[in-house]
Amino acid sequence: MIIIEKLAGALGAEISGIDLKCRINPEIINEIRTALLEHEVIFFRKQDIAGKHHLALANAFGKAVIHPAYPQLEDTPEVNKLINDKDNPSKIELWHTDMTFMKAPPLGSILRAYKIPKFGGDTLFASMSAAYQGLSDKMQSFLSGLTATHDFCFGFKESLEEAGGRERLKKAIEDNPPVSHPIVRTHPESGKKALFVNCLFTKQIDGMKANESRALLQMLYEHAIIPEYSYRLRWEENTIAFWDNRITQHKPINDYFPHYREMHRITIAGDTPY
Ligand code: SIN
Repeated sequence: MIIIEKLAGALGAEISGIDLKCRINPEIINEIRTALLEHEVIFFRKQDIAGKHHLALANAFGKAVIHPAYPQLEDTPEVNKLINDKDNPSKIELWHTDMTFMKAPPLGSILRAYKIPKFGGDTLFASMSAAYQGLSDKMQSFLSGLTATHDFCFGFKESLEEAGGRERLKKAIEDNPPVSHPIVRTHPESGKKALFVNCLFTKQIDGMKANESRALLQMLYEHAIIPEYSYRLRWEENTIAFWDNRITQHKPINDYFPHYREMHRITIAGDTPY
């Protein structure tokens, strides 16, 4: 029997009474799935798991996606290592939903804190269903027919500008041409509606003039991350966060340099937004 404790008004719950090193039976997986759908991001503490356990949890929800831009764990290539310190500060600065440059962006990601810095390095999460609900009826219906273009090159522009960057990311660029997604997405399992634009990968609202698109997106970005729609996770080593990427945004806080932070992440394949 797992225990689920809601942590904040809009999203976030901590799950205890489970050891992710053990085989998890289908009933428990269903309880975890139900918790994820309700709370949008869920956390597990004190889970000193190996790559294979991390992968087993992810595979209970779908197929792991290999991220084109990060190194991998030696014995479990599905696990990406996010390693940052003073010589390699994080480039993930902005609020975002993962990999919305894909035609079918991920269902979610499972991030495990492997080494955490002495201070800082928290992660912020925000509920895009709460953000959608918080818009006026008029704005909700205005947005409902609109789509926006998401673009890998827009999100990774700094990496592309680095020496050799374009060559290193050539395949990812070829595999991910710009793609349009609805601005209001319907969650395929819960049916909740959610705002689905993010300042990292959304380049332009389709069919609008550049200045109109910029102004509207800016308003939506500011609205989406107000504190009432968000939760701030303080990591401990072996904390795991599992976010539903179809309905949330997140942002790491890069305030821990010169200290070392190592996170292990698996991203789970998703479906085409509608
Ligand atoms: C991510 O954006 O996927 C990483 C979040 C984090 O490192 O806290």
